[in-house]
Amino acid sequence: MSLSEEFAGRVTIVDHPMVQHKLSILRDVNTSSKQFRELVRELALFEGYEATRDLPLEDVEVTTPLMTTTCKMVRGKKLAIVPILRAGLGMVEGMLELMPAAKVGHLGMYRDESTHEPHEYYAKMPEDIAARDVIVVDPMLATGGSATAAISYLRACGVRNLKLAVLVAAPEGVRAVLESDPDVQVLTCAIDEGMNEACYIMPGLGDAGDRIFGTK
Ligand code: PRP
Ligand code: URA
Repeated sequence: MSLSEEFAGRVTIVDHPMVQHKLSILRDVNTSSKQFRELVRELALFEGYEATRDLPLEDVEVTTPLMTTTCKMVRGKKLAIVPILRAGLGMVEGMLELMPAAKVGHLGMYRDESTHEPHEYYAKMPEDIAARDVIVVDPMLATGGSATAAISYLRACGVRNLKLAVLVAAPEGVRAVLESDPDVQVLTCAIDEGMNEACYIMPGLGDAGDRIFGTK
């Protein structure tokens, strides 16, 4: 049974042909930092479409050049984007293009290179975070340690409606996140084969933070 079947309705694979195309370029070791950043932004925008698919609509009257008619607009939902630093920063711009009124909270976390355990080093949320629907963004979901820590932190802040948007996931990470929280939904462009002994996603795309910021 696939993860999508096992956790029905809680895992969305965003596999539009344009997403698959862009993700393949993102994976390529020869893709430059500049292009990598652009692709992360674009893929975040695509994921944003899926993450906001269930936003409530309301009827509004619109006068076209020809007549007045009833149309639909998004009913003022309060949203927040929470990137897991550093790599999650790369996805903020694409999400904000779609949701310009969203607020942004920052959660700093790094993975210890030997234990692979996440360490929180920074947190700054909008004051009314508990009243917002939150999309946590991070390009990579490997062991799931960073994402589950971020989700626990946000639950402790009182957040009720929570989604996690990643670009590439290992099956172990998807399972860890879904088992750690009964309500969180996960969106990913791909679920890869697994992880290597250093807990890098295989085939993956390497270290997303280093590729976005050119630090390696
Ligand atoms: C990467 C990635 C995730 C985390 C995923 O961040 O951006 O936050 O690892 O791994 P996990 O699922 O096993 O926790 P990293 O710790 O390398 O920090 P960076 O964003 O500063 O590069
Ligand atoms: N973090 C990354 O940036 N890449 C991986 O493959 C795993 C964790």
